[in-house]
Amino acid sequence: MIENWDVFLAPYVQAVDELKIKFKGIRSQFEQHSQTSPIEFVTGRVKPIPSIMSKALDKNIELDSIEEEISDIAGVRMMCQFVEDITTVVDLLKKRKDFEIVEERNYISQKKESGYRSYHLVVRYPVETLEGMKNILVEIQIRTLSMNFWATIEHSLNYKYSGQIPINIQKRLQRAAEAAFQLDEEMSLIKDEIQEAQAAFSRKNEL
Ligand code: GTP
Ligand code: MG
Repeated sequence: MIENWDVFLAPYVQAVDELKIKFKGIRSQFEQHSQTSPIEFVTGRVKPIPSIMSKALDKNIELDSIEEEISDIAGVRMMCQFVEDITTVVDLLKKRKDFEIVEERNYISQKKESGYRSYHLVVRYPVETLEGMKNILVEIQIRTLSMNFWATIEHSLNYKYSGQIPINIQKRLQRAAEAAFQLDEEMSLIKDEIQEAQAAFSRKNEL
């Protein structure tokens, strides 16, 4: 049992805060070097207690083992402009020494039935606490702005329909997911053009 949720969740809050700062730092470094960045923005959250409880219930997870069994209590999301940027970001994360990757799922080459696309990594991230080092599982989702738009909307609809989205809306969502992916592909085709414009724009603002 978890007697004190604040105490239990504190290292998760710490992990999310630290990783958000680190990943925003990568973005700044890229911008300084090349005026463009494969990371557009970074968000993070700690799963709300009611969601942790209901996930544990749904998946038959004992409250004693949620630390090991629920890998998305800490979640960080990295949004990219272009699909190619996702590979750049994943390769970068794989080279890092401050966490260990324990799971990798490519829902871009292998989209989900719903139409969902994203690249997922679960990492084991060490956090310093008063009791010593604690390894925290963090789920990192890397996706394009377009994939994020779709996932956000589908998530709201799932919430509205308690996970039972009517079949006609499911079908429309699958089509919308394809349209979103086509947008990504179209943007990729003019990536160089776009990035030149963005670099020129950021130089202008620096003056
Ligand atoms: P979970 O019980 O969700 O952890 O399932 P899992 O362990 O099989 O993980 P999976 O990689 O499928 O999904 C993890 C996370 O990806 C979810 O918590 C969502 O944030 C996101 N996700 C996965 N599938 C979908 C989807 O169909 N729609 C949306 N909007 N998000 C999804
Ligand atoms: Mg999961």
